[in-house]
Amino acid sequence: MVWRVGVVGYPIQHSISPAIHQAAFDALGIPARYERWAVPPADLPAWVASLRNAQTLGANVTVPHKEAVMPLLDTFSSTAHAIGAVNTIVQRDGQLHGDNTDAAGFLRGLADIGGVPAGAPAVLLGAGGAARAVAYALLQARIGPLSIFNRHPERARALAADLGRGASVEAFALDAPERRERLARCALLVNTTAVGLHGERLLPPEEVPTHALVVDIIYNPPETPLLADAARRGARTLNGLPMLVYQAALAFERWTGRQPPLDRMFAAARAALG
Ligand code: ATR
Repeated sequence: MVWRVGVVGYPIQHSISPAIHQAAFDALGIPARYERWAVPPADLPAWVASLRNAQTLGANVTVPHKEAVMPLLDTFSSTAHAIGAVNTIVQRDGQLHGDNTDAAGFLRGLADIGGVPAGAPAVLLGAGGAARAVAYALLQARIGPLSIFNRHPERARALAADLGRGASVEAFALDAPERRERLARCALLVNTTAVGLHGERLLPPEEVPTHALVVDIIYNPPETPLLADAARRGARTLNGLPMLVYQAALAFERWTGRQPPLDRMFAAARAALG
């Protein structure tokens, strides 16, 4: 039997998850075919039902389904529940378990380049689905106080309220006057917005911190204007590729119980990006 597994999204044609996972299955000799499933929102319930069979290992879930898929599943990890989003589904005996490996994947990427100490002030740009996973990861690692800036400030406030619970989290509009000062004294800056995908600048270069670790979760292009500005100003930088590969590796472990070959996964990701 060939195991069935894949990634669901809409659109999905640009996902490099098939390349990353297939490389790991092939390297370990596990007979599995990792597919790419383009499923519009109206078809999500039928697609979820199609996972409930013995041949399916599970699935990765991406935009726009990470939140919408939750009511269609049977059980959740505490992480998926706290983040309010699922990026990994595991099928066992017809039951579907929702998990989220984005937060742990983000922290592994951070750890690889030396990390950020607990108690270090951090700035998060964005308050969408990806920001929720990163904010959760930062609180888990006790990084903060955390300042969240978002174009629509009510989304930042909702995220702070959901994840705050006694932690030090403040929410602001993207253009709030506090931004300059929070950026100047942060030890970690993370961009989770889509700004930079097409060469746009989210921050004026002179506001990009010089003594911080600057992370952009975008991996294509590998260097956004934010990361280029940060590098020019002497900051340490990290793009989104390690987070992408580590969240994939953690999903692979959930499905197979095996440690995937990370070097193969990184190589496949780089090759797929060209
Ligand atoms: P994802 O799951 O990738 O986080 P999302 O939930 O749609 O996707 O969130 C996209 C993020 O990028 C949001 O923080 C969004 O800001 P708003 O919540 O204010 O919409 C941010 N974003 C997208 N385009 C932006 C732009 N042109 N300027 C500033 N922020 C932008």
